[in-house]
Amino acid sequence: MIQVNLPNIQQFMPLPYEAALAPRLHIAHNHLQKGDGAGGEFTGWVRLPENYDRAEFDRIKLAARRIQQNSEALVVIGIGGSYLGARGVIECLCSPNYNLKKKETPNIYFVGNGLDSRAMEEVMELLEGVDFSVNVISKSGTTTEPAVAFRFFRKLLEDRYGREEAARRIYATTDRQRGALKNLADEAGYETFVVPDDIGGRYSVLTAVGLLPIAVAGVDIDELMAGAASMMEVCGKDDMGANPAWQYAGARYELYRTGKKIELLASFAPCFRFMAEWWKQLYGESEGKENKGLFPASVEFTADLHSMGQYIQQGERHLFETVVRFAPDEHELVVPRDEKDGDGLNFLAGRSMDFIRQQAMDGTLLAHVEGGVPNIMLCLGSNCAFTMGEMIYFFEYACGLSGYLLDVNPFDQPGVEAYKKNMFALLGKPGYEELHRELAEKLH
Ligand code: PA5
Repeated sequence: MIQVNLPNIQQFMPLPYEAALAPRLHIAHNHLQKGDGAGGEFTGWVRLPENYDRAEFDRIKLAARRIQQNSEALVVIGIGGSYLGARGVIECLCSPNYNLKKKETPNIYFVGNGLDSRAMEEVMELLEGVDFSVNVISKSGTTTEPAVAFRFFRKLLEDRYGREEAARRIYATTDRQRGALKNLADEAGYETFVVPDDIGGRYSVLTAVGLLPIAVAGVDIDELMAGAASMMEVCGKDDMGANPAWQYAGARYELYRTGKKIELLASFAPCFRFMAEWWKQLYGESEGKENKGLFPASVEFTADLHSMGQYIQQGERHLFETVVRFAPDEHELVVPRDEKDGDGLNFLAGRSMDFIRQQAMDGTLLAHVEGGVPNIMLCLGSNCAFTMGEMIYFFEYACGLSGYLLDVNPFDQPGVEAYKKNMFALLGKPGYEELHRELAEKLH
């Protein structure tokens, strides 16, 4: 269960807002439930936890087992919604140091999420003498970054194993029918998984997009889906008091309306970094349009208290914090006693790290609220696959509601096309000749 604690926003609100906002949340909620709002054709994720394709789910588990058996590494090629969720879940549940750990499961390398030659070469070097497979993920099947990376890694596989075995080691997650990747996969006989038509990239982590890499890392994907299903029930409630997604979406909308333009997602767990990256894409791409939308940023405490803490405490007052808090771990390190106490830390001897972190959290919260930063606290269960499923669904649902409260389409991303068009033109892609001339003139 997720609890949304809001006492530390009240003093920043001119008036109680819940009653006024409830009718608008009710409308937004109905749009999501019925799929009849803007972008309603992309609300397949709303009921996904109950009606996902069971046969494909079983194939994902089989493929994951095969990869675990025949590969020491899996290369995941994808960008944006086609990799952030998987990376976030794996880092959160298995550690940001997953690849360095002793384990039974393959290393996982994420590539194709940029255009840096060095980064790609480095992964190629790491694969020398290592059996590996590739999961190439692109809904459109035409995105430049993953397409270019796939060329390199396909060649590496083919040179290493020959075409036939390479084809057995490539798993393509893409559109059911369309796109260059789908055609390539059909022609070469790669095993394919589907990104459903009615689910956009940033809402796709609970489809094969996220599930295959997550399963390869050894995470229990049944538990992940069970967590999402349980949150789907909760978020289906047409009631502010019982629906945490309503509470979160309502509070952040009201803060935005009263002048807070930046939402800082903060966590005290370093493993959360890539979940925060996933969250930034989800909210930034869903809300940031028509000159509207909170700017989603993230900080990692306590590390960033020593870098961003000054600004948060005393900089421009246009931000609020949303703090994600997991329930304490069962096995906590306890500070040892030191007879000499040269560092003067014996006052903490016998205290668990969680106790110390809790005091840091409370101290930070009080200081930031005092400094004029409203605080939303999201209390989650322990850091496990079930909780992760709950959290993913919760953030997705609240994001859909937030888009509708803002009166934008939360499921399109027209702005992403602008850079792509220019890049294609500058690269000389056929069909972009006129724009190429126009841009070349501007640049020189
Ligand atoms: O949310 C989105 O739609 C985007 O971030 C996409 O996930 C990203 O651009 C990658 O697209 P594709 O999966 O088509 O390669």
